[in-house]
Amino acid sequence: MAPANTLPAWAELQSHRDSVGKSFVLKEAFASDPARFERFARTFTAPGVADVLFDFSKNFLTDETLDLLVKLAEQAGVERKRDAMFRGDKINFTEKRAVYHTALRNVSGWEMKVEGKDVMGGPNGVNTVLDHMKEFSGQVRSGEWKGFTGKKLTNIINVGIGGSDLSGPVMVTEALKHYGADDLTLHFVSNIDGTHMAEALKASDPETTLFLIASKTFTTAETITNANTAKTWFLKKTDGKGDIAKHFVALSTNESEVTKFGIDAKNMFGFESWVGGRYSVWSAIGLSVAIYVGFDNFYKFLSGAHAMDKHFRETPLKDNIPVLGGLLSVWYSDFFQAQTHLVAPFDQYLHRFPAYLQQLSMESNGKSITSDGSSAKYTTGPILFGEPCTNAQHSFFQLVHQGTKLIPTDFILAAKSHNPISDNLHQKMLASNYFAQAEALMVGKTDEEVRAEGTPEDLVPHKRFLGNRPTTSILVGDVIGPAELGALIAYYEHLTFTEGAIWDINSFDQWGVELGKVLAKKILKELDEAGNGDGHDTSTGGLISAFKKYAKI
Ligand code: F6P
Repeated sequence: MAPANTLPAWAELQSHRDSVGKSFVLKEAFASDPARFERFARTFTAPGVADVLFDFSKNFLTDETLDLLVKLAEQAGVERKRDAMFRGDKINFTEKRAVYHTALRNVSGWEMKVEGKDVMGGPNGVNTVLDHMKEFSGQVRSGEWKGFTGKKLTNIINVGIGGSDLSGPVMVTEALKHYGADDLTLHFVSNIDGTHMAEALKASDPETTLFLIASKTFTTAETITNANTAKTWFLKKTDGKGDIAKHFVALSTNESEVTKFGIDAKNMFGFESWVGGRYSVWSAIGLSVAIYVGFDNFYKFLSGAHAMDKHFRETPLKDNIPVLGGLLSVWYSDFFQAQTHLVAPFDQYLHRFPAYLQQLSMESNGKSITSDGSSAKYTTGPILFGEPCTNAQHSFFQLVHQGTKLIPTDFILAAKSHNPISDNLHQKMLASNYFAQAEALMVGKTDEEVRAEGTPEDLVPHKRFLGNRPTTSILVGDVIGPAELGALIAYYEHLTFTEGAIWDINSFDQWGVELGKVLAKKILKELDEAGNGDGHDTSTGGLISAFKKYAKI
């Protein structure tokens, strides 16, 4: 693949940006074109999923921009790469793996094969594992699956990290809390900080606790250490009478490590190496979700994502919603030097959504090496951040409105609340803020408007809002239920895919997390050995030495 900045459309976008983009004023674009909203908004429609309106019109877009961005996508081979993904080709070229999380939610039975082998059927196929998840989640919810003293298991502790925790199960169970079983308590333990496990265990009774050890590799230091601590606690608390088989299950691809840990292979829910960690909530890693919200809702979640897959796979680029989202991101990153991207859901249930997106986006596209091994001569993945609104408005939105940086922003709102309390007043106030923020970021406030409010002259510049800040507003046409959440996540997954395809990077490996892991392992040994951080630079050595002195190690 040619580097993105050598594609003809890149140069065209550059001169388009110089001639049009620099002077583009959003509010004027609306004033001069009453049809702007209709032309740049797209509605995602699919059976079983509420409509989702994506309003791209408050972005730095003209018809020509859109044409050029689509041209860039064509020249970068976005469609070819997308088709290769759906064909099961090994597009994760540094790990020589297919990228096939879409098979996990293939509810309409597309033919999906890796190396010529059907991944849907057979003993370890997607559908077999789903059947196992359905059976097991039903048994736990009904109480048919009992602990070693015959009690129902009502306390679920998921032990995992990254995609086996936040970028998946934590975010999704929070987002679908409305559908969660009231008699189940969920804990997610991820951090190696013993506090995380200690606090979960403090609140737990071994007779009613089920541990889900969630790790694709089953070698992640944090997860295996936490899992061993949980096992030791369980055996100690039960005087060795506790039955591991009834209280521990594994969600993993690594059967030999699972059995070595002491979990029977029949209590393992498997998946394949073609599922990336940050794309694994659709796999067995989603078992905590299935238990908490019930398998039917989990299946709806898969179905919503599949509907977005279908849209992404079949819709021409110009109307392809995740492709448009990805193209806008490239537009701002590479042609406006935007370094960040803000996602602010107007939805308390989505309070972990931005944190989840951080792993999806930054672990996928935080790369600087292109497919031929050379360094990218352009900016890749933005720093993604966010918090739910209206909270975020009362913390960092000052900088978004009046700071010196351009921060493209996504706002998300559901038309209906799961909790329409006080005669829906809260929902209406929430919605009014959702509309107001995007409008305010666009229109700003001129000096004349500030003066007209009787503002003293010395304060005028301080109260000025330049405006012209781009936003994409996403409006779900109902409550955010399992299907809508599935579709939203898949939207961001495919947006991330589109960005990576244009930047010509591998969005599916994560070598950047390795170095720190290796050094931590080496230093862990040193903490138990004599010595004062010798062999390190003086800062690291000095810190190790001080730690040993203070901690009396
Ligand atoms: O260290 C990064 C990472 O590999 C993520 O990609 C992954 O989600 C996480 O660690 C956990 O990995 P595993 O599920 O194999 O324990």
